Amino acid sequence: MISSKQKLPRHIAVIMDGNGRWATSKGLSRSEGHRAGADSIDRLMEISLELGLEAISLYAFSTENWKRPVTEIRSIFNLLVEFIDSRLEGISKKGVRILHSGSRKRLSSKVLSKIDSAIEITQKNRKLTVNFCVNYGSQEELLNAFSKLSEERRKKKIPIQKPISTKELEKYLYTYPLPPVDLLIRTAGERRLSNFLLWQSAYAELFFTDTLWPDFGEKDLKEALDWYGRRTRKFGGLENG
Ligand code: FPP
Repeated sequence: MISSKQKLPRHIAVIMDGNGRWATSKGLSRSEGHRAGADSIDRLMEISLELGLEAISLYAFSTENWKRPVTEIRSIFNLLVEFIDSRLEGISKKGVRILHSGSRKRLSSKVLSKIDSAIEITQKNRKLTVNFCVNYGSQEELLNAFSKLSEERRKKKIPIQKPISTKELEKYLYTYPLPPVDLLIRTAGERRLSNFLLWQSAYAELFFTDTLWPDFGEKDLKEALDWYGRRTRKFGGLENG
């Protein structure tokens, strides 16, 4: 049960794992598993709006997912486009802001234009931010951030010896200006971060569940939030200090 007094995370990150296993267990194709995964995103957005959560980041396609068969890659991107086409108006009315985190390289112009228009249409919304991590990998994000930062410093003639602060670097992360991740959820039994929001999750609480992503619903989210509410977060300090 979520009580009104319970401390909620500001930013939840989700590694939506298990679509393939869910499909195989039902004799369906992997694409059908991803489609069921997209329906789970719908449910997550609805509950997040009800609970008044601030931001959710969803790992929809990683920089490593290009290694998958082209048919599967195509089905994920088709789903993303379909998702935006069919939901954008409705979710925008509900106050959802869409963001994208990830490299634009390798994404097709069709996918980029869909993402860009979703960002533009929803830019003023603040009820809930849904950050789609597409073609995202933390290591690539950090390399990109350091290279943009050095370029900026060179232009401004800032001496190379001047130390870089965390705040300065964070401006160049794809997730800027989202707050750090408070709670990271990974479904389907794996206990890995898989190159997801490594910097942003420095002090995140990590919640692992065996539930496969297409089966993840209100009960699972509430279980994760309940568990989060019982954590004592010390950020490297002492509980009472
Ligand atoms: C991991 O499950 C899931 C992905 C790599 C893709 C996530 C995509 C979606 C939830 C749907 C996309 C929809 C939108 C709107 C972006 P897996 O395929 O690795 O599962 P497995 O480990 O059981 O094979």
